[in-house]
Amino acid sequence: MSAEPSDLKTVHVDLGARAYDVLIGSGILARVGDFLSSGEPVAIISDANVGELMGERIQQSVMAAGLSSFLIEVPPGESSKSLDVMAHLLSRLAKKKVPRAGTIIALGGGVIGDLAGFAAASYLRGVNFIQVPTTLLAMVDSSVGGKTGVNLPEGKNLVGAFHQPKLVVADLDTLTTLPPREFAAGMAEVIKYGAIADRALFDRVAKGVKPEDADLADIIEKCVAIKARIVEQDEFEEKGLRALLNFGHTIGHAIEKATKYETYLHGEAIAIGMRAAAWLSVQQAGLPQLDADRIEGALKANDLPISLKPGVSSDSVLAALGNDKKVAADGRNRWVLLSSLGEAKSGCEISSDLASQAVYRLTLK
Ligand code: NAD
Ligand code: GLY
Repeated sequence: MSAEPSDLKTVHVDLGARAYDVLIGSGILARVGDFLSSGEPVAIISDANVGELMGERIQQSVMAAGLSSFLIEVPPGESSKSLDVMAHLLSRLAKKKVPRAGTIIALGGGVIGDLAGFAAASYLRGVNFIQVPTTLLAMVDSSVGGKTGVNLPEGKNLVGAFHQPKLVVADLDTLTTLPPREFAAGMAEVIKYGAIADRALFDRVAKGVKPEDADLADIIEKCVAIKARIVEQDEFEEKGLRALLNFGHTIGHAIEKATKYETYLHGEAIAIGMRAAAWLSVQQAGLPQLDADRIEGALKANDLPISLKPGVSSDSVLAALGNDKKVAADGRNRWVLLSSLGEAKSGCEISSDLASQAVYRLTLK
């Protein structure tokens, strides 16, 4: 991962007054300050792992730009995406007298991006927000598109706001410390982009991707560009287009919920969900069996699970899916299915029997 500014890639997210750039490259974390002209004090929100690794570097960069900053660290993990942690953050911002013209930087993975983004959306009814994603998942997905929020005991992401960042700075060098399991979890979302929108990208990633691969920046750029084009056309998920990004997520979210968010990383649950969605796509949307097999192969090649662990029952996942006939008849579960690799459609309805079969098959190897 050599650091040449000329290697810098930029994806523009064209949202009119809310437009911004996603910068992808090596060595750019230490240049975050260059992109700030005003907006102090800068509140850098991170988790304890990432704050320890990179907090000082980003603070130095902000200081070199002549701006004051302070670092707030929260405990790592999904449990920090809570109203309690959010209240703590808001109090810290108020105590530091961050004004409306102040800036919040999210330094971390999707948990920090969602949490800090929601704080930025809510504090003083909205302050400047910059995403500095440090996981592969956050680089290709959660840092782009403006979805922010926290969880409730009743469910995931139940409170939140759309709040687009002013800038996203994705420094590939940060991935050198990312645990391999977390990298693999991010690959689930990468495979998703190929499956729903870009067969050539799928063909590439189906071979397996490692952090040191020379084309990693290209792969991330392609994913971000796919998401940017979708978000530009359906920013508030009203037209069925942004919903395409949820391929594999209906069952994936149910797996996360059934296992209390403790057994699987988000990307791992989505990987298993994509296997089920591929099977459903063969049954209902004309996806060739060969293509469904290739999705399974791509997940395996990227060290992702494709089956439920022995202790996780299909019944518990079905219960989390709300898969009774009444719910299905009400059309609550809308599915994203593939007609071919690279072609997806949203809003598909499937019978509860078929959904049950799809989930049951996940208990088989
Ligand atoms: P995460 O933020 O929990 O990060 C994973 C772990 O890796 C954490 O322990 C973190 O401390 C550590 N870590 C992060 N970067 C590191 C680095 N460079 N080196 C060493 N350790 C590092 O998890 P995630 O997978 O990035 O994000 C998952 C969250 O993203 C979920 O809450 C999910 O709901 C959300 N999400 C949001 C969107 C969206 O559009 N807003 C999209 C997808 C997922
Ligand atoms: N991760 C889904 C979305 O941003 O819409």
